[in-house]
Amino acid sequence: MKRVVCPGSFDPITFGHLDIIKRASSIFDEIVIAVLVNQTKQKLFTVDERIEMIGEVTAQYKNVKVASWSGLLVDYCKANDISMIVKGLRAVTDFDYELQMSQINLQLQGVETLFMSTAPAHSFLSSSLVKEIASYGGDVSSYIPEPILKRLKARLAANSAGNNLN
Ligand code: PNS
Repeated sequence: MKRVVCPGSFDPITFGHLDIIKRASSIFDEIVIAVLVNQTKQKLFTVDERIEMIGEVTAQYKNVKVASWSGLLVDYCKANDISMIVKGLRAVTDFDYELQMSQINLQLQGVETLFMSTAPAHSFLSSSLVKEIASYGGDVSSYIPEPILKRLKARLAANSAGNNLN
């Protein structure tokens, strides 16, 4: 059985992530979507919220599981007997960083990285851009699924109400 991990911040999950997850789920026996916890980065959603949102929009893929991990990705792989990371590659701008990560992960624990090219329709898409556009009231409905859109709008509204009180 080939089990792979799709790691990321998923703050929030986008159609770009979902495209990679869907394609990977048709290739491998089991996909673990790992929400990596980075204490130094401020996130819009908590890890639990991100896990819940991912679970909601990937429920149709029976071989997809969601987990979280605080630490090195390769340590998660080792602890869970996973030998391959699957990641989407959007453009050449992703390449240097992703290559470096894949080489470090290979050297640290012998974990392989398989890059899947992002579908052209999503090649410009990132969670950060989605949050920025939405924070200015822009329409992001073609970038994230409906349940995520609802949560994003609610969170941004709550945050801005909080800021207005200050
Ligand atoms: O969605 P992102 O933020 O681009 O995902 C990046 C992520 C979380 C996959 C990457 O930062 C990561 O693997 N972090 C875990 C720590 C780690 O293993 N770093 C690589 C070796 S220094």
